[in-house]
Amino acid sequence: MTNSSTLRIGLLQFAPKLGDIRANTDKIENLLEESQPANLWVLPELASSGYNFSSLAEAEATSEPLNQSKYIDFLISKAQTLDTWFISGFNERENHRLYNSSVLIGPKGIMGIYRKIHLFNREKLFFHPGNKGLPVFDTPYGKTGMLICFDWMFPEVWRLMALKGAQIICHPSNLVLPFCQTAIPGYALTNKIFVATTNRVGKEGDLEFTGQSVLVNPRGEYLLKGSRKNEDVMTVKIDLAEANDKQVTPLNHAFDDRHEEIYSLHEKPGDTSLMNEKKNLRREIKELKQQYTPDQLKETGINVMNEFEKHPRFISAKTIFLYWSLPDEVPTHEFIEKWSKEKKILLPRVVGDHLELREYASIESLETGTSYGIQEPTGPVFTDFENVDLVVTPGLAFSAQGARLGRGGGYYDRTLPFLSNAYKVGVGFSFQILKYVPYGELDIMLDEVVSNSDIQPERLI
Ligand code: ACM
Repeated sequence: MTNSSTLRIGLLQFAPKLGDIRANTDKIENLLEESQPANLWVLPELASSGYNFSSLAEAEATSEPLNQSKYIDFLISKAQTLDTWFISGFNERENHRLYNSSVLIGPKGIMGIYRKIHLFNREKLFFHPGNKGLPVFDTPYGKTGMLICFDWMFPEVWRLMALKGAQIICHPSNLVLPFCQTAIPGYALTNKIFVATTNRVGKEGDLEFTGQSVLVNPRGEYLLKGSRKNEDVMTVKIDLAEANDKQVTPLNHAFDDRHEEIYSLHEKPGDTSLMNEKKNLRREIKELKQQYTPDQLKETGINVMNEFEKHPRFISAKTIFLYWSLPDEVPTHEFIEKWSKEKKILLPRVVGDHLELREYASIESLETGTSYGIQEPTGPVFTDFENVDLVVTPGLAFSAQGARLGRGGGYYDRTLPFLSNAYKVGVGFSFQILKYVPYGELDIMLDEVVSNSDIQPERLI
């Protein structure tokens, strides 16, 4: 065995015969005899069986278990006599399941197996999606990953295998669409790896395969390109060590420059960037609030609520979900006392990680809750969520667009989605209304934010 990263790689583009393993091994044998030697041969997808099965029974007829396979045994014997390696598509059966697989074979036998994850079109009728993950295997020349045909559409798999150390990804294919061969240089370049796509040619039923197998280097350059319609056996010498250099410019690295922390679609509990942004903003708002006396806040807040009484949404609302204010919030106690005679006023009660809605009866009926020491209602639980017309929420900060920053418990964000018919209003002091408030996927946007009008620009962030 050599330790060199230099090897001659060969792409063996041909037209496997549907349903005839023997014809396919004969064909491969003949092509190898006619060609110059190579250290690693890449063959098409389902090179043992052909592709376009008309029924499950037809697919099963040429499927073989890995350890009792004429096709695999043939490749192993060739690997031994020619002292070479193969990566080939293979119609694999395990128990009663078929997999569209790719095997890595060396002179010592089977060295790796990959099962196609992304099944294309009618393949879904015959094969199970791969259940072996995205492994990367050692060869005497370096590390290789395997993908099969339509897997190419999913950038995630290329990146993952490159991050696992694959210096080359070998890609047995039966491409019928004309796009992949032009996309491969992009994957090779962005991951700075070699890619060997061996496609097949020929027709099977209504499918015509698009040939043009490609070998691309980590600079995204084609080193080999096969014919569109004909068999083509091509080889080229490459050095897999070229794939170890991930530097793009002196100051850019293809992998180290990634910002994984912001590539997630989902706001995770540990999404530190958003959490930190919110934490900092809560601190700033707290400092701003301290510039006002409690009396100033109360007077300003009462004005906010006096204005809000005239809001058409308030006037028309019959059932309103309000809040019983804390000393640093827009005050609602007198407002609630006054309006509870005319409208149904609901107040929140913290239960687990949710807010329960309960009808307000009187000040005497409130009791101190366990969270934040807020006064909570004790009346019957209200669950008629569709009939809540208006929601009025406090908050630490709001944007004019309706983003709301709460105290961080997430109670309102978990509760408001149930109140789908309610018009949702946030009330705050002018210094709480900002141009931008950070928000994530789980934060509920309000329909409107109401504040006092005497905004003092120097207080705006
Ligand atoms: C394909 O995945 N064979 C198009």
